[in-house]
Amino acid sequence: MLRANYKNVWNDLSQSVGSAKIYVGGTEDEAALATATLHTLNVLRATVGIRPEDECLEIGCGVGRVGRGLAPLVRKWTGCDVAPNMVAHTRARLKDLPNVDVVEISGYDLKPISDQSCDLVYCTVVFMHLDDWDRYSYVKEAWRVLRPGGRFFCDNTNLLTEDGWAIFEQNRTGYHPLERPAFINKCSTPQELEAYLQHAGFNQVSTRARHLWVDAWGVK
Ligand SMILES: C[S@@+](CC[C@H](N)C(=O)[O-])C[C@H]1O[C@@H](n2cnc3c(N)ncnc32)[C@H](O)[C@@H]1O
Repeated sequence: MLRANYKNVWNDLSQSVGSAKIYVGGTEDEAALATATLHTLNVLRATVGIRPEDECLEIGCGVGRVGRGLAPLVRKWTGCDVAPNMVAHTRARLKDLPNVDVVEISGYDLKPISDQSCDLVYCTVVFMHLDDWDRYSYVKEAWRVLRPGGRFFCDNTNLLTEDGWAIFEQNRTGYHPLERPAFINKCSTPQELEAYLQHAGFNQVSTRARHLWVDAWGVK
């Protein structure tokens, strides 16, 4: 299947909630997912901040791993995902939270989300599965849906780290070029993400290396 056929690729991977959790967080264990969520919340706090008045949008929300922890801290949390199965898992897992909305998207844009309707848009552990053009499309879309002063955060594995390079080499040599899985990890560089945010119109653009990761964020 083509990598850019995100809807079918990711719907197949998320037929059961167990399989979806494995592809999202590498584990079915709720306690382990909750620990990973605390880590993600700390990354958001250290970069774009988390504010009680925020209306937040997560691009590629998976099973609602981050939403579970973030929704109680903000005014509203909306998760969107390309895969209808992921959307259904998130709705089921977060049904006890009153300020949560979950939306299916095309895989290339945020059409169901209105212009200037969000204070914080973030996309974590998703860019490695996208083609570079589609990464940039989401950065542009994030700019559209943010209110002036709104913040955007994205991350990817970082090619310029030892561990990122190891992923690159493992995926280069571990598969015949015609047999690489469609969801295979492709790293970014800090410069790539910085260029997307600059070209999309963000101000105060920052990047940082964080172990295996690169984080990028900016303000509309
Ligand atoms: C590794 S999971 C991460 C989920 C979540 N962000 C988290 O950190 O727990 C990647 C998610 O991105 C979604 N996804 C893949 N391609 C996408 C696309 N083009 N647009 C939106 N979501 C996409 C998948 O369905 C999956 O839920």
